[in-house]
Amino acid sequence: MGRQIAMSAALSGYATIVQDISSDGLEFAEAELESWVAKQIGKNKLTVDAAGAALNRLSFAQDLDRAAADADFVIEAATERLDIKRSIFKCLGTVAPAHAILATNSSTMGSSMVAEASGRADRVCNMHFFNPALVMKCVEVVRHESTSDATVNTVMALASRLGKEPVLIKREIPGFIANRLMGAVQREALALAGAGIASITDIDTTARTALGHPMGPFELMDLVGLDVIDFIARANFAQTGTETDAPNERVSALVAEGKLGRKSGIGFYDYAQCH
Ligand code: CAA
Repeated sequence: MGRQIAMSAALSGYATIVQDISSDGLEFAEAELESWVAKQIGKNKLTVDAAGAALNRLSFAQDLDRAAADADFVIEAATERLDIKRSIFKCLGTVAPAHAILATNSSTMGSSMVAEASGRADRVCNMHFFNPALVMKCVEVVRHESTSDATVNTVMALASRLGKEPVLIKREIPGFIANRLMGAVQREALALAGAGIASITDIDTTARTALGHPMGPFELMDLVGLDVIDFIARANFAQTGTETDAPNERVSALVAEGKLGRKSGIGFYDYAQCH
């Protein structure tokens, strides 16, 4: 998601550095964004000049120390592992300018888990985007006990300047708002399919045609990635212990088979054949 968040910032006029420890990851990010920009130009949604200006505001770096050295604002979107996030926040606390706000895009870890490591807990919060980040309007801004009002106001204002519609979550709760709502729909969809009441295709069709959802729950799980869905369930279940939050066996089995959704070509649906 980091590359699409970065592009949103570049399109809104901010000089933005995409940092990743993997050079392959950076190459992939650059290629995807260039291809997205070309399609937007082709659809007359972006002028050649605006696209060029946005791409010029973007740069790519492997070294976090150097990337963060002049940053006013950092949005961390690393893999959902607490040890990795803590080490990133520890490093950012040292190398980023003292005024810089450090936000995490995590959907499963409240920023209180990384705030102390940064040494500037008042300037840390969650800034949670949605997939695909260049398209989805919602940004969940989640404060923890020590996040200052000034930080919250700046993060909300920045999200608005990126063309998003930020919502404020006043205290940390597993799943925030969106994943709690999404989880409820997914649980019911998985239960209906598991009981043989309807096919996944018909359940998805119902969500789209009866409820006006842009995608059905199975299509959405494939888009988000079944590994991510499984991880979110495990993380929430570990925090709440509530039976309804437990990971779903069918999703876990697909993950174990390497069927992760769109990104692996197969999940609930087979993208080689159907899409
Ligand atoms: N990356 C960037 N842009 C994309 C994209 C992608 N992967 N997929 C689609 N788009 C863009 C298209 O370029 C198109 O842009 P324009 O309007 O500028 O032309 C626009 O989205 C619409 O795309 P399409 O016409 O191809 O298809 P669509 O109308 O069916 O929309 C969709 C696709 C935006 C993905 C839509 O189906 C949708 O909104 N789905 C629900 C997505 C959702 O619920 N996301 C939240 C997931 S939960 C999460 O992310 C949080 C978490 O913690 C896991």
